[in-house]
Amino acid sequence: MRVLGIETSCDETAVAVYDSEHGLRSHALHSQIALHAPYGGVVPELASRDHVRRINPLIRKALADADLSAAELNAVAYTAGPGLIGALMVGGAVAAGLATALNLPLVAVHHMEAHLLAPMLETPRPTFPFLALLVSGGHTQLVAVEGVGRYAVLGESLDDAVGEAFDKVAKLLGLPYPGGPALAQRAERGKPGRFHFPRPMTERPGLDFSFSGLKTAVLTTLPRDASEQDKADIARAFEESVADTLVIKCERALEQAGFDSLVVAGGVGANLRLRAALQKSAAPSGIRLYFPRREFCTDNAAMIAYAGWARRAEGRAPGPIAVRARWPLSELRVPPVA
Ligand code: KG4
Ligand code: ZN
Repeated sequence: MRVLGIETSCDETAVAVYDSEHGLRSHALHSQIALHAPYGGVVPELASRDHVRRINPLIRKALADADLSAAELNAVAYTAGPGLIGALMVGGAVAAGLATALNLPLVAVHHMEAHLLAPMLETPRPTFPFLALLVSGGHTQLVAVEGVGRYAVLGESLDDAVGEAFDKVAKLLGLPYPGGPALAQRAERGKPGRFHFPRPMTERPGLDFSFSGLKTAVLTTLPRDASEQDKADIARAFEESVADTLVIKCERALEQAGFDSLVVAGGVGANLRLRAALQKSAAPSGIRLYFPRREFCTDNAAMIAYAGWARRAEGRAPGPIAVRARWPLSELRVPPVA
């Protein structure tokens, strides 16, 4: 079975082909970073328009790279939410048009479910059940995953998502969009131990997170005339606080759920300090740790094509395009056929 996946939920236009026999056949992506950079963040209307411009050439490229014709596809999957509604509509409309023209089932994919399943594209791949730490620009969640479609959210951020905290702190430090990678790069030059930020909500029981206070702590610590070294040192301390906080909560959640596998996914999963901290914590306790390759932590269509395949049983004949700006993971149903 060959599934074409289309991702347009935010500022990346991406198309991929997943083949149940041969694995990932191709993945093509266009990042809109340069388009949004002058505005310091994603401008939704510009994002939608750029998706319109890029999507068809990317579909052609993904098919050519996979050495397939459109007639050889068996389903079309697209990100139906959560995300920017106009941006989602572009991918949804193109996917529905393609599915109609080719007479193929159309699969609406939940973006966070796709992030969660992204490590399935790697070797070795995790086996169910596992705990997933989802850390992206819009979500911070700990999810107990029993199987495809069988998710229980154990904890989540009560305010900012961790990626959002990275982006906001980067802005405070005068770093360019996208803030996460820029902050991580700056932190490399930071001296460890010069600043110390709290590990929010780790002192009390529970698995929820809060990152907005951390942003305030950075704001009050940042000297008015901060030097480049001050900023690097603060970036370093911020990153360490986030990594420590996430590690503590993962350890707690693994113990609570009784799982021995941890999957980390979403844009912040590309952060090397977080990856190292999780590795350090997992090794002595025998926890098996799985990450997608770094380019599949951030938004991509490989994970959409894979999730579309995993959810193929829910494919339907193309009809009205269904996209949702907000879509809690808890509202996903178990697919009728595993
Ligand atoms: O998963 P993603 O690409 O999009 C969403 O679904 O939100 O995540 C984007 C988030 C942004 O907040 C970005 O700053 C953050 O992931 N991010 C990082 C890194 N790469 C991306 N944060 C920290 N370190 C990174 N290397
Ligand atoms: Zn994402």
